[in-house]
Amino acid sequence: MSETPDKLWGGRFEKPTARRVEEFSTSLPVDRRLLREDLAGSIAHCRMLARQGIIPLDAARAILAGLAELVEQVDQLAVAQDSRWEDVHSLVEGLLRERIGEPAGWLHTARSRNDQVALDERLYTRRALADGASAILDLQAALLALARRHQDVILPGYTHLQRAQPVLLAHHLLAYVEMLSRDLGRLRDAYVRADVMPLGSGALAGAPYPLDRAYVAQLLGFSAISANSLDAVSDRDFLVEHLAALSLVAVHLSRLAEELVLWSSAEFGFVEIDDSYATGSSIMPQKKNPDVAELVRGKTGRVLGALVALLTVLKGLPLAYNRDLQEDKQGYFDAVDTVHACLELTAGMVQTLRARPERMAAAAESSFSTATDLADHLVRRGMPFRQAHHVVGQIVRACLASGRELHQLTLDELRHFSPLFDQTAVGLYATDSVRARNVPGGTAPEQVRQQLERAEGALSETRQWVQWVRERLPNLERLARAPLEAAPGVDSRAGA
Ligand code: ARG
Repeated sequence: MSETPDKLWGGRFEKPTARRVEEFSTSLPVDRRLLREDLAGSIAHCRMLARQGIIPLDAARAILAGLAELVEQVDQLAVAQDSRWEDVHSLVEGLLRERIGEPAGWLHTARSRNDQVALDERLYTRRALADGASAILDLQAALLALARRHQDVILPGYTHLQRAQPVLLAHHLLAYVEMLSRDLGRLRDAYVRADVMPLGSGALAGAPYPLDRAYVAQLLGFSAISANSLDAVSDRDFLVEHLAALSLVAVHLSRLAEELVLWSSAEFGFVEIDDSYATGSSIMPQKKNPDVAELVRGKTGRVLGALVALLTVLKGLPLAYNRDLQEDKQGYFDAVDTVHACLELTAGMVQTLRARPERMAAAAESSFSTATDLADHLVRRGMPFRQAHHVVGQIVRACLASGRELHQLTLDELRHFSPLFDQTAVGLYATDSVRARNVPGGTAPEQVRQQLERAEGALSETRQWVQWVRERLPNLERLARAPLEAAPGVDSRAGA
């Protein structure tokens, strides 16, 4: 028989597990992060077992007292190195046994590590989804504040990274607010499916005890219990969905980061990144580098990798639990940490960013960015758009040859290309172009003001959702201290 203390279930074996096998198969360095969740799940399970009369009341009391002690020490235990245990579940059971002895053995009644780990991960995911949503809201607030401060500022909008048509800076920033709003929608959607309580599924087939699964769900703030035990112990869709949502967040942050890298370059000069968010060069004294933005862009690769890695783990698995599933956590936790940090740092960078409106305006007024407006002028005077496009193309070619901008052309010069031009086509500036795009979703100041207001309203609605989730998450300390509830009709002091 094994001599190692973590052999809580070594009866079947003649020899201990090989040291290298233990090292190979342990998940504690990764899943110790689920300690609070494992304790919460264990407390809820024990309360239910006692309430249903499935385990002796005195054993339940001893277990709860022991678990409450672990809860008090949870911060130290979460970082303590203890290689005796294979995973966070055996750690909790083992530490409990060290504290209360034999009664600890009752806790695992009607429970398997398979439904236990699914529960822990779902609890963790619910919290992480709320944290991620909150971090997105902070970034959105930073973008909205920057947009509000610069409501009249115009810059060139780009396609193919070529100056295309002028847009309001606020409109540009609000595009990211929109992306992030969809990200929030995806996180909230993922929450609905993570919010299902799997305990009671046992190893795979359920448990032969009169469990009150709804009571466990209620103690832990879940909205529903799982419908199929085989599915519940082997489903990691909720992690995939969270990772997919985080992947899109990372992609959106990466795009914004890329723009900040471009915009802060001497070539663009549209913004200045605050010194506190920039770094110097070890050799070139003049350098101020946008490393934070570059790292946000670069870290995206790891996040996308975690999504693909988990999908790959899942794709060939027969029902139900397989140990492969243990590989679901490392990339997931890393992706959560990474994206949350990227959100926080990007928000800080945006909060401290200095826009350079004069540089943006100068760029918007050059490179013929009002050419489409000139064509639209002809369309409004009866010329089909395709023909107008051709006429203005010729004007641009002429301007390129003579080194002039469209707004410098006189009426006579314009009329040389088409007699339909009138005085209102002369001296067309970026502001005129922007003001003209007064359709819903367009860049006209009136439209952008409405966008801003809608986005600010959505922010407070989502903050309420985050609050709602936080209130439903189990409070570990309170859960540990609450008096033991007896089964309906049974005196809880019996046997005390
Ligand atoms: N460490 C395991 C995991 O993360 C816990 C479940 C282990 N279950 C088992 N039957 N070996 O998946």
